[in-house]
Amino acid sequence: MCKIFAIANQKGGVGKTTTAINLGAALASGDHSVLLVDTDAQANCSSGLGWRRQESQPTLYDLLLDGLSPDKIIVDTDLPRLKLLPADRRLAGAAVELLQMEDREFLLSRLLETLRKDFEFILIDCPPSLNLLTINALVAADGLLVPIQSEYMALEGVSDLMDTVERVRRRFNPKLQITGVLATMFDERTNLSNQILQELERYFSAKLYRTVIPRNIRLAEAPSFGKPVILYDVRSKGAESYISLAKEILAHEKESIG
Ligand SMILES: Nc1ncnc2c1ncn2[C@@H]1O[C@H](COP(=O)(O)OP(=O)(O)O)[C@@H](O)[C@H]1O
Ligand SMILES: [Mg+2]
Repeated sequence: MCKIFAIANQKGGVGKTTTAINLGAALASGDHSVLLVDTDAQANCSSGLGWRRQESQPTLYDLLLDGLSPDKIIVDTDLPRLKLLPADRRLAGAAVELLQMEDREFLLSRLLETLRKDFEFILIDCPPSLNLLTINALVAADGLLVPIQSEYMALEGVSDLMDTVERVRRRFNPKLQITGVLATMFDERTNLSNQILQELERYFSAKLYRTVIPRNIRLAEAPSFGKPVILYDVRSKGAESYISLAKEILAHEKESIG
């Protein structure tokens, strides 16, 4: 059984990519097979895992626009159970190019359906917008994971995201669920962070993960070494928090199956 999660929030800098990489790595280190799909033209998920595009190497862009086969594109990472489907900056134009295509909302979904047999989890790192690539991710996903930064205006834009989810559910993907909401960059020393957490609890109740991701310098440093935090500093609070999130998600999955 494979679960496909889109990690989305149209706000930039809320921790989507950090969550994709480190949740993926935590699941993979627990011996689950994981594919990370980078759908952002900034390709931070790819570079954060140490991937650098060689001259004319194909990426997600070529898959979506030229129908190249995924096994030509998926690459290994430093963790044996963690694979990456990388992106590159050409994707910036893809949202427009895709508009011309028939079934343009279903391109990623069709692709990932063929990969379900190979992975237990597929995590899609979304761009900071509600563009056609994000719509493709929501159409492909079983569940949506929403990272929210524990800062002033945390809930800004969340209603637009919820409207988009509702529209995708009605038109394209009736099974789409909001799996969970994750408070990121939490600073326990500040009243503001604590207030925001209470607000998130009120707004999302049971959907809010018990695990909270602290603001942690190791999480910010790890990508420049091309590593998930568990390979950079496994004892850090950042590593601990993503391991705990992985456990929470696994427990939740077990519950919903059994
Ligand atoms: N919990 C955290 N603690 C410290 N820095 C973080 C944390 N989460 C993310 N960051 C940093 O904040 C910036 C934005 O995070 P990122 O995951 O790239 O957000 P998004 O993908 O939503 O744009 C990055 O520089 C990242 O390293
Ligand atoms: Mg990102």
